[in-house]
Amino acid sequence: MSALEGLQGRDFLKEIDLSVEEWHALLDLARSLKAERRSPDRVPRLSGRTIALLFEKASTRTRCAFEVAAYEEGAHVTYLDPESSHVGHKESVADTARVLSRMYDGIEYRGFAQSAVEALARYADVPVWNGLTDLWHPTQSLCDVMTMLEHVDKPAEQIRVAYVGDARNNVANSLLVAGAMMGMDVRMVAPASRQSPPQVTAAARAIAANTGARVRHTTDVAGGVDHVDVVYTDVWLSMGEPEELWDERISLLMPYRVDSVLMDKTGNPDVKFMHCLPALHGTDTELGLRLSAHTGMAGLEVSDDVFESERSIVFDQAENRMHTIKAVLIATLGGAG
Ligand code: CP
Ligand code: NVA
Repeated sequence: MSALEGLQGRDFLKEIDLSVEEWHALLDLARSLKAERRSPDRVPRLSGRTIALLFEKASTRTRCAFEVAAYEEGAHVTYLDPESSHVGHKESVADTARVLSRMYDGIEYRGFAQSAVEALARYADVPVWNGLTDLWHPTQSLCDVMTMLEHVDKPAEQIRVAYVGDARNNVANSLLVAGAMMGMDVRMVAPASRQSPPQVTAAARAIAANTGARVRHTTDVAGGVDHVDVVYTDVWLSMGEPEELWDERISLLMPYRVDSVLMDKTGNPDVKFMHCLPALHGTDTELGLRLSAHTGMAGLEVSDDVFESERSIVFDQAENRMHTIKAVLIATLGGAG
């Protein structure tokens, strides 16, 4: 059985549930799906399938990527928003899983605790896909490594990436283990209190021992970003964290703000900038305006000039959410053969 065939019927809850071979098989499938997207000979691979999209937090990219991926492959979706289903309010995750399994061929879930998506998968008898929890964001990291391979002209094992900022969040955790699976040089550049949780570091190190990846944690910005190919950041306060933490987070993370000075510290004129999005890079959002009145700066985790620069590949990255999620759907629902 090929690695891809082995994914049929499986869940996608976190990167470390997959073997390195399975991870690469998903990535290869995503790349070929992207290449053939506009081909007139394409045959939809998921005709007649039904997919539930269960969101307990807001989303633009993940929801749209699941929907468009499904539509392009002939599947149908139902979107359940944070308010309009019973889950979490008066119906348990276990009961929801058993109900949705009777109607749908697969379930996407975005929520808070990783234990909720794991419970959903335990009780569902169809594939469950993690669309982000507080701990992991695996459909994001699959897209991230695909985007790096497209923009950095090196084999994965030679790519160096620095994640700078709040390294204790879902996106950072996922990037660390995904980078380890790819055999990359991954640096987490953050204050000690916002560094990777120990179990995430342990998982990444265990993978790195087999793939040859280099995994490093540092508080030192200049050393951490030295000669990297990619600088990656994410918001300083994630969904579900209390707004009261903004002040503390801003003062803690200000030295880790990605601006042109930090980008120049890489010493690499070809360095790329990545961000999972949404990004606070200006004053054209309600939150951005409010925080700028507070800090006196436009933009927070990334300056507007870096975000809008030639080095920024964030919209290519956003597009790749769709191709990679399509690969996850096809592989797990069995349309890859
Ligand atoms: N990057 C990401 O997951 O974006 P959304 O929150 O818009 O889905
Ligand atoms: N860390 C962010 C990622 C959003 C895609 C959050 O959880 O809000």
